[in-house]
Amino acid sequence: MQIERVRSKFKELFGEMNVTTFFSPGRINLIGEHTDYNGGHVFPASITIGTYGVASKREDSLVCVYSLNFEEKGVIEFNLEDLAYRKEDGWANYVKGYILKAKEKGYEISTGFNLVLHGNIPNGSGLSSSASLELLVGVVIKELYALDISTLELVEIGKKTENEYIGVNSGIMDQFAIAFGQKDKAIYLDTNTLEYEMAPAEFGDYVVVIMNTNKRRELAESKYNERRSECEEALRRLQTSLPIQSLGELSAEEFEKNRKLINDDILEKRAKHAVYENERTMLAVSALQKGDLVAFGELLNASHQSLKDDYEVTGVELDTLAETAQKVEGVLGSRMTGAGFGGCAIALVHKDSVEKLENTVDSTYTSLIGYPASFYTAEIGNGAGVLE
Ligand code: GLA
Repeated sequence: MQIERVRSKFKELFGEMNVTTFFSPGRINLIGEHTDYNGGHVFPASITIGTYGVASKREDSLVCVYSLNFEEKGVIEFNLEDLAYRKEDGWANYVKGYILKAKEKGYEISTGFNLVLHGNIPNGSGLSSSASLELLVGVVIKELYALDISTLELVEIGKKTENEYIGVNSGIMDQFAIAFGQKDKAIYLDTNTLEYEMAPAEFGDYVVVIMNTNKRRELAESKYNERRSECEEALRRLQTSLPIQSLGELSAEEFEKNRKLINDDILEKRAKHAVYENERTMLAVSALQKGDLVAFGELLNASHQSLKDDYEVTGVELDTLAETAQKVEGVLGSRMTGAGFGGCAIALVHKDSVEKLENTVDSTYTSLIGYPASFYTAEIGNGAGVLE
């Protein structure tokens, strides 16, 4: 058990055992990619792999953190009075950033704490290990300091940490999915209004397989920020004639009538993806609600195609995974999930075809890319909180 390892490390490092245990999941996104910072819809779900933590309050103002994923870093120690970003503190900057942003919002964290954690989300897999860590810190401080803080506030502090402290201009999807997740449910979220609905993620005889490119995500952050600014520029150009606040407000039809206003091929493609992907997400949720898995799968395929051709965030690794999977019998649909540029793809596949899918994709991938992919069956679990 993950948590037992974390507990015994905690005991070894800090002795005391009056502790609380926590879990914060990773997430997959079923559909609605690169729509969350464009005021569109997303459809993510929290998964049963994630970050486990054991924590207790200290009497002084030190925060001492240790990760079983980065044992070479040892215990990283910092003072609540000095939460500045330091490169050498590596992963612990997420902890510092989260505490800083919570304090800036007026939450009182009077003393420090000890925290040991272990995550089983593969590093750089695009399953949101960083948002998982942020929300873990969120539920830790909420619990230890009995903070009167809503789930949405925990989400917003995570997003601020990412945007203002780490410097990735990400949207709200990951933190939202991780905080609000529920077993066997996906979250249909309108990122414009933050209204959401929990939808049963029930696929009958089908399961969601996660396929990891195992590619190091290089330059992912700068390319992500670049896509975001491209969308902002496209929006500015559309706003010269249209009274809209976000691309998510446009239907595909309205977009087609006005796309020439953008007057730049690349920006037009980016905006097209944002608008059509938003429509696909709405269609996919209603297809799933009607039990039409075939239509749902086709929308997954169309989403991948658009992320490849118009948004250009896939790359040969993700394309090989998704496009090979799409051709396997028993697969209804496959697409990249998360930011792209490496990371993972998902496939909706009949439970009797999982092995065939993994074998086929793995052999094609290995021969083309030169190293193997990894596969996991996604189980949709609960959001971040205290572990009973
Ligand atoms: C990353 C970001 C999210 C979202 C996705 C793409 O996961 O953190 O906010 O933009 O990429 O859909």
